[in-house]
Amino acid sequence: MDAIKVSGVSKKFKEKGKTFWALRDVSFSVKKGEIFGILGPNGAGKTTLLNIMIKLVSPDSGRIEILGKDVSSDNNILEEMNFVSGDTKFHWVLRADDIMNFYAMAYNIPKEKRKERIEKLLTFFGIDDIRERKFDDLSTGEKMRLIFAKAMLNRPKILLLDEPTLGLDPAIAMRVRDEIKRVNRKFGTTVILTSHYMNEIEQLSDRIAFIHDGRIIDMGKVESVKLKRFGTYDVIIKVKKVLDKDSLEKQGFQVSGSVLKKRLAIGKSISNVLSTLQKNGYEVLDIETKKPTLEDYFVKILKKGVKPEGA
Ligand SMILES: Nc1ncnc2c1ncn2[C@@H]1O[C@H](COP(=O)(O)OP(=O)(O)OP(=O)(O)O)[C@@H](O)[C@H]1O
Ligand SMILES: [Mg+2]
Repeated sequence: MDAIKVSGVSKKFKEKGKTFWALRDVSFSVKKGEIFGILGPNGAGKTTLLNIMIKLVSPDSGRIEILGKDVSSDNNILEEMNFVSGDTKFHWVLRADDIMNFYAMAYNIPKEKRKERIEKLLTFFGIDDIRERKFDDLSTGEKMRLIFAKAMLNRPKILLLDEPTLGLDPAIAMRVRDEIKRVNRKFGTTVILTSHYMNEIEQLSDRIAFIHDGRIIDMGKVESVKLKRFGTYDVIIKVKKVLDKDSLEKQGFQVSGSVLKKRLAIGKSISNVLSTLQKNGYEVLDIETKKPTLEDYFVKILKKGVKPEGA
């Protein structure tokens, strides 16, 4: 059984009399224990999709199953989930302690376990010294860490993270990422993550989906998705001495000093190139391959005319 199964979900919004589709026939599955990254430009529909999963928004069509249960008819399934968003806010007057205690109660954590669980989470996120402070008086980073700590209170099986490191300094962001990974490994928590930080998506996700204009454009492992829209990659080789520039250029190398550059088809390995060079008496000092990054993919796909595969 998949942890999450999204089938044909569409959602339209009406604004100023105009109707537009925020999600169009979105389908994907996430396996138990997987970290699934959703990326896409502003307004692509990522947050709407997560909001539908936690029933904040109802879809116009389609179906979402979480742990085999239809979210539209099974409210208990929300107890197995939690949600973190860069946009989450609590009432300004509440103290951190009040917030954690309130949610510990709301999540039905037995009274004798509440205190310890709250302590551990506040300590882990490095915010045990802010428990007396009002939410509004916390820094962006402190707010985010508190929101994260709150989301872990019910030990969710499914964690939905909507730009969870937005506005955090790099050290705290790294800590949050480490914690996401640690929670995922230790408890087998299934995670859906959206982020505009490509390195975050790349570092954490087992698989990703790219959403654009409410549609899934590409889906799969990061390595394969990021290469999907590119036919070639470059290999840059530094040799000790160029012996025959003309002959190298005839073989398709760009030669600049003792640095050779060759463009290879994606999927073609560099071993042939290296063995040919070695056969011709070249001493190779260094090799660098320049494959397209997720960022290259993102930029390329946003250029006009890119359509979903098979469309
Ligand atoms: N309640 C709403 N009423 C009207 N339009 C909405 C509503 N919620 C979202 N939208 C619109 O739906 C589209 C998708 O929004 P959504 O917030 O899901 O995008 P996103 O991918 O999360 O973008 P971002 O990267 O900026 O967070 C946007 O055009 C947005 O303006
Ligand atoms: Mg969003």
